[in-house]
Parts: sequence; C-alpha cells; structure tokens
Amino acid sequence: MKDLEQKVAIVTGAARGTGAAVARRLVGLGSHVLLGDVRHEAGEKRAAELGERASYVPHDVTKAQEWERIVERALELHGRVDVLVNNAAVLHLGTIENTPEEAFRRLLEVNTVGAFLGIRAVVGPMRARGSGSIVNVGSIDSLTGMNGIIAYCASKWGLRGLAKAAALELGRSGIRVNTVCPAGGNMEMYGPWMQQMAGFMEETRTYMDNRAIPGQAPVEAIAEAVAFLASDASSHCTGVDLPVDGGAHAGCFLPGFNTL
Ligand SMILES: NC(=O)c1ccc[n+]([C@@H]2O[C@H](COP(=O)([O-])OP(=O)(O)OC[C@H]3O[C@@H](n4cnc5c(N)ncnc54)[C@H](O)[C@@H]3O)[C@@H](O)[C@H]2O)c1
Repeated sequence: MKDLEQKVAIVTGAARGTGAAVARRLVGLGSHVLLGDVRHEAGEKRAAELGERASYVPHDVTKAQEWERIVERALELHGRVDVLVNNAAVLHLGTIENTPEEAFRRLLEVNTVGAFLGIRAVVGPMRARGSGSIVNVGSIDSLTGMNGIIAYCASKWGLRGLAKAAALELGRSGIRVNTVCPAGGNMEMYGPWMQQMAGFMEETRTYMDNRAIPGQAPVEAIAEAVAFLASDASSHCTGVDLPVDGGAHAGCFLPGFNTL
C-alpha cells in the first residue's frame, strides 16, 4: 500500500475508536490525514499525537457547510483529496416500540445522510484529478438484520446502498466506493446502554464467540481493511462489502458440531 504515501485523506469521527485507528494507520502509511469529529478536545489530542501529517478539523457530518469547510481545508493544505473515510456514526439501542421517531431520524441523519453529503463534497476534487477512493464504515448490521437495533440497522443498510449506487455513478471518473463491514469497534459507542445490557452479557458473549474467529474485530484489523480499500492495492474493487467480522457472515459456529 505504498501508494498511500503523500496521499490526502479525510477521516470522519476520528477522535476515538475505529476512526482514530484508521487515521493512525493512514498516517503510518505516509498519508496526510484530516481528522474530523464533533469531540473537539479528543480530536485535537489525537491529531497532535499523530504528528505533522495529521490535523484536526471540527466537523459535523450532518452539516453541508462543514463538509465544504473540511474539503477546502484539505485543498488549502495539500491541494487534493484522494481518500474519504465515512466512519462517523451514532447508535441507538431499542426495539421498534422503544425507538422514538427523533432517534430513528437522527441515526439516518448522521450515519447515512452524513456519508451522502461527504461523497457529494469530495466528488468535485476527485473527478478533477480522475481518481479517488471512498470507504464507508458500515457494520455487520449492514449485511444482516438484528433485533433491538432497528434504527442502526436501517441506517447501515442505507450506507451500503449508497456505496453501491455511488460506485456505479463514479467508476468512470476513476473514483471507487466500498464498504467495510466490521463486527466490532469501540465499546464506548454502547456507553448510554451499558446498564441495560448488563443483564445480557452472557448472551452477548455467546453471540460474539459463535463465529469462525471468536470475539470482536480489533480496531486495528478494521483500519487495515479500510487502508486496503483506500489504496491502489484494491484498484479493481468497487461497490464491494468487506466483512471484518471473524467469519460471522459465513455462518454460525456450533462448538459441539466441531466434535462430530
Ligand atoms: N462499536 C462497534 O461495536 C461497531 C461495530 C460495527 C461497526 N461500527 C462502526 O464503526 C464506526 C466507528 O465507530 P466506533 O466503534 O469507533 O465508535 P465511536 O463511538 O468511538 O466512534 C464514532 C465517532 O463518530 C463521532 N461522531 C458522532 N456523530 C458525529 C457527527 N455528527 N459528525 C462527526 N462525527 C460524529 C463520535 O464523536 C465518535 O468519535 C461507526 O461507523 C460504527 O457504526 C462500530
């Protein structure tokens, strides 16, 4: 992935978790990275830790003007945008009856509309150069359904649809659009629901362990998959969903059946 050296990337939701790991990996591969987030203090700190190839830009993905600002900043600093990683997202845990309309709309707004605004903001400079790679961070919940997370599932399936349509529209301009679908990330995302989930920890553990590779995907593994899709190493991949899920999408592992 040597081609990522000197490339310019925007990573959304990069103040912590997966986004921070993606920013770290891209900087490690020699890219210039603009980290966006709504957590300004953490974002500034992350960028400072990554050194001079990283900079933090306060950036709410739901605001079209803030997309214009971060793209302008990239062009001012480096004259180009090669990579966009649509990673920012929010979660709401709740069944149909426990999901208020505002929560459902909020998830679509951040997780799906935010990524659409991002793609729209970078296509101009990418088309002008005749190249670009857009990587959306979806979820295992972009590939299957799950009870108790209806708003998140809908927003993440929408994100995947967005990538496929954009891939078809932008392929002839040299721009690729792909989706990484992790089963894992930053547990801080579950913060507001930790108390409610406490009663289901064993069930949750079984769900995570009944995979070919048990447990959650480490953020570094997710970042590596993002870097692959961002780089020319994946030059003929577009509209692809890349699960980073320990084989969860392959099927359910039954421990007893491995002894038959
Ligand atoms: N945590 C998991 O278990 C898990 C599993 C599968 C997929 N994912 C996906 O991975 C990605 C990263 O999540 P994470 O696990 O690192 O969780 P996280 O909560 O640590 O990261 C999400 C980041 O997005 C930022 N953000 C929220 N709203 C924003 C907005 N309007 N504008 C800009 N930034 C905003 C948050 O401040 C945060 O830094 C997300 O797309 C998430 O859906 C997470």
